[in-house]
Amino acid sequence: MYVLVTVLVALFFTLFLKWFKSRRICLDAKRLDGKTVLITGGAAGVGKETAIALARRGARVCVTSHDEQKGEAALQEIKRESSSMNVRFWHLNLANLQSIRNFCRDFLKSEKRLDILINNDGVPAVLDWTDNGFSMCFGVNHLGPFLLTNLLLDRLKSCPPSRIVNITSNVYKYQKLDFTDLNYNIIPLFTYCRSKLANVYFTQELARQGEKNGISCCAVNTGPVVGDWTSRFSILFRIVMYVFTSMFFISCQAAAQTVIFCAISDDILQHNGGYFSDCKPCKLSPHVQDAGIAKKLWEASEVMVGLTSSPREHLASRTR
Ligand SMILES: NC(=O)c1ccc[n+]([C@@H]2O[C@H](COP(=O)([O-])OP(=O)(O)OC[C@H]3O[C@@H](n4cnc5c(N)ncnc54)[C@H](OP(=O)(O)O)[C@@H]3O)[C@@H](O)[C@H]2O)c1
Repeated sequence: MYVLVTVLVALFFTLFLKWFKSRRICLDAKRLDGKTVLITGGAAGVGKETAIALARRGARVCVTSHDEQKGEAALQEIKRESSSMNVRFWHLNLANLQSIRNFCRDFLKSEKRLDILINNDGVPAVLDWTDNGFSMCFGVNHLGPFLLTNLLLDRLKSCPPSRIVNITSNVYKYQKLDFTDLNYNIIPLFTYCRSKLANVYFTQELARQGEKNGISCCAVNTGPVVGDWTSRFSILFRIVMYVFTSMFFISCQAAAQTVIFCAISDDILQHNGGYFSDCKPCKLSPHVQDAGIAKKLWEASEVMVGLTSSPREHLASRTR
């Protein structure tokens, strides 16, 4: 009897995990010949899988990493896996505003097109600071992509219909932004959630501004992914995380499906500025549907990254 119950429980648990980890796959067969795609953080995890998939569809794919060696190795792997030579690696450190400006200057000089920008880079919940004194999470996950996107907007506008895909996470719903301290850096998990919330607001305001210019955009929740992100932590934590993530997290390939879908599908056009998960549009938490906050964050971010010098009264963020 006990054996039967144990077998049934194990079977149920296995089927539950299989269902829990199953994800829709992108069935759109659209090709991207002649299009140029830029994927930040494309040398690892979800970004690398997306790069391979889009290179297979004929796109010219540019991937970035802040680690030259890792970037070069990933470049070879993406070329090999996609059987495409039309892939390029760029050095970019999103924790450094000057690196972003230098990258954009060189990229715009060298690449004539930019059809799809995928802001995939991201750091997990870490208590660290960028070179410019911003919290690592808010700096790399929001301010870096914000500056990069703004500096590349004209090139995107000149290649209509173009697209921006921002990678966020469903943890956005657990925090609110504190405009008296956008650079909050006390509890790492909260900082991470706020940075992912900022991705959602950024996408909404970007959609509002980009509508007239032929640029559409969306935010993507990849779901919990088994990726390289645990490599930042101690060995013991990594072992615990390995066991946990291999049971409950999905593969980078599965997580990349919604990113690929949002990069190519025409469905996005009806949901400009929307939030996607599992290759379909999803409803946002009510507290995030606030165009006023999205605009306020945009203006505050402009000041923080130096796109405008006019101080705004609501910006009282501390830097380290
Ligand atoms: N993993 C999850 O469970 C999960 C869940 C929801 C959402 N997401 C989001 O999905 C996206 C991809 O995550 P992933 O799991 O594939 O993570 P990952 O394997 O750690 O990849 C993240 C990428 O971000 C890049 N990055 C980190 N610091 C950087 C910096 N200073 N400058 C430039 N790039 C930097 C890394 O590139 P280099 O180190 O090569 O520079 C790396 O390729 C992220 O935005 C993440 O927040 C992940």
